[in-house]
Amino acid sequence: MPATYSSLLPLAAMEEPGVRQRKKIVPGSSDGHQTGSGAKPTRAFPKIYGLLLVVMLVLTLYQFPALVKSPLNQLLGTPEPTRLLPGIPTNYVPTFAADEAKRDAVVEAFKHAWHAYERDAMGDDEYHPISHTGSNLTNAGGIGYTVADSIDTMIIMGLEDEYQRARTWVADNLSFDRDGNFNTFEITIRIMGGLLTAYHLSGEDSLFLEKARELADRILPTFETESGLPLSLVNLALREGVPDRDNYGYVSTAEVATLQLEFRYLAYLTDEDIYWDKVENVMAILKAVAQPHGLATIFVDPKLGRYQTSPIRLGSRGDSYYEYLLKQYLQTNQTELVYRDMYDTAMSGIHDVLVKRGLSTKLLYIAELNPERTGQGSIGWRLVPKQDHLVCFLGGSLMLGATTSGALVDHVSIPPRPDELTGQGERDWLTGVELINTCMATHDTQTGLAPEIAHFRIESDGIDNSVAPADWYIKGARLGAPAPFDARYILRPETIESLFLAFRLTGDPKYRDYGWAIFQAIEKHCRIPTGGYASVINVDQVPVEHEDKMETFLLSETLKYLYLLFADSSVLPLNEYVFNTEAHPLPVFNPTILTGFS
Ligand SMILES: *[C@@H]1O[C@H](CO)[C@@H](O)[C@H](O)[C@H]1NC(C)=O
Ligand SMILES: *[C@@H]1O[C@H](CO)[C@@H](O)[C@H](O)[C@H]1NC(C)=O
Ligand SMILES: *[C@@H]1O[C@H](CO)[C@@H](O)[C@H](O)[C@H]1NC(C)=O
Repeated sequence: MPATYSSLLPLAAMEEPGVRQRKKIVPGSSDGHQTGSGAKPTRAFPKIYGLLLVVMLVLTLYQFPALVKSPLNQLLGTPEPTRLLPGIPTNYVPTFAADEAKRDAVVEAFKHAWHAYERDAMGDDEYHPISHTGSNLTNAGGIGYTVADSIDTMIIMGLEDEYQRARTWVADNLSFDRDGNFNTFEITIRIMGGLLTAYHLSGEDSLFLEKARELADRILPTFETESGLPLSLVNLALREGVPDRDNYGYVSTAEVATLQLEFRYLAYLTDEDIYWDKVENVMAILKAVAQPHGLATIFVDPKLGRYQTSPIRLGSRGDSYYEYLLKQYLQTNQTELVYRDMYDTAMSGIHDVLVKRGLSTKLLYIAELNPERTGQGSIGWRLVPKQDHLVCFLGGSLMLGATTSGALVDHVSIPPRPDELTGQGERDWLTGVELINTCMATHDTQTGLAPEIAHFRIESDGIDNSVAPADWYIKGARLGAPAPFDARYILRPETIESLFLAFRLTGDPKYRDYGWAIFQAIEKHCRIPTGGYASVINVDQVPVEHEDKMETFLLSETLKYLYLLFADSSVLPLNEYVFNTEAHPLPVFNPTILTGFS
């Protein structure tokens, strides 16, 4: 049996002696920030030095008039030239207008993908573009996995005909009365999230809300566990939670903590508190058993309601726990401070423990921690220099957090100025910018596509520099050998999601250039001429070999974020919408229910 989480306590001490105590930052204060200048102890100068000082001061001011001009300007209300954060280039004019040609190219790609699915597999859960077939998640029949995930993208892109056909399918053919086991998290973020956004963006077409509510009601019984943490699987016809036998009945932290935006918005729309209470209780449990560094192991025990010894990572099974801490705070218009506290603590923990740099070019990456039994039978933690493509969501998320949780003002400028951010906000912003650069660096492959998993060089890896000279490499990749799992690209959106957020927050056209380069690589290597897009088995091999699968997140996330990257910045503004982890935008609202824990 794995040890309990309490034995994880030495974590911080192991990695870097002593957890640095986070300074609590109150928005509006200049605490920990460079604006205030503390009074220095005075010293007695001989008169001659005093005179010299005055002369020097006058000379300095003559040379650097800004020293006095800027406080003067502030006093007089004259606008000051923008001071920029390090990492933001000064040589660009922020862009907000659409790049119509590129935006329309993305719409064409969406049609190429959707029309093929519609032709070959309409209504099936998943699509295989090479064999021109569909398949369902279970033998019990489809539940609209692809259709529900795609509808809001059609509305956003203005594809009226496609939207009407998809709506008709939802009205006539969508059924959740399926006697099979479905993943609680996946159907919540993809189907319920998709339906809720479709409801909002369609001008409140009640069809979508009814379907979302029906699905939610079928999912609710999964919360009936000893702790209240929901089970991984649900039988939709029987309305029963089903434990995941593959993982001893434990549930992923990200999976239990990534249902909240969807259920809370449903509660807001229907005025039914039960949807709210069930998912909030999950957060209350996770807060109660949290460690001081705010990092979460990837498994929790639904019986005991506590963390289970398992890896700590920002990749699979961990990622959206952190994402939804920030987004729950944003969803309710920054009123629920408990989520901001949890988020701030977690981001400090990530910086204290997991932020690392590559050996040669010093690329910043987020490492993982794996638990290991030490000789004395206690648990130690091994740092693994491995970063899932999934982690690339974090770059944009950190920047978004910096301008909200880490803001000293109500409306941060685009791009933000240093005096608008707390110390933590500035730290998170810079890490976010650097992490996006790292994620872009992992596109430096034969195809220009990034692998599913990148490893980073460390001193002790024993790898010959001639084999892997760069900071990062694809583990197990050898010329002539079959490609390892790590080498694939399955049409994932996370880097593009970060580019979209970074572009909206900076207006820096370089992020559009990055996104366009990725889009062109997808067009070149993933596009199937007869319709649809397929995964690539090895990003470092041309011509590519395909895997016959088009993930639904190509339609809901990858192409939507690309579209929004090139669309006018007023489309779905970040202060009015919060994107669920499947890129379904949900409107920000002022809550009518008070947070039930602190
Ligand atoms: C998927 O399920 C739907 C609904 O039951 C069914 O009509 C369809 O034939 C199924 N598709 C496949 C490939 O089995
Ligand atoms: C949807 O339902 C209608 C009416 O029951 C049926 O005629 C049609 O074939 C169904 N479409 C699909 C794609 O299953
Ligand atoms: C969010 O709160 C601000 C005031 O802090 C208010 O002006 C704004 O209308 C609120 N937004 C929503 C969507 O309720």
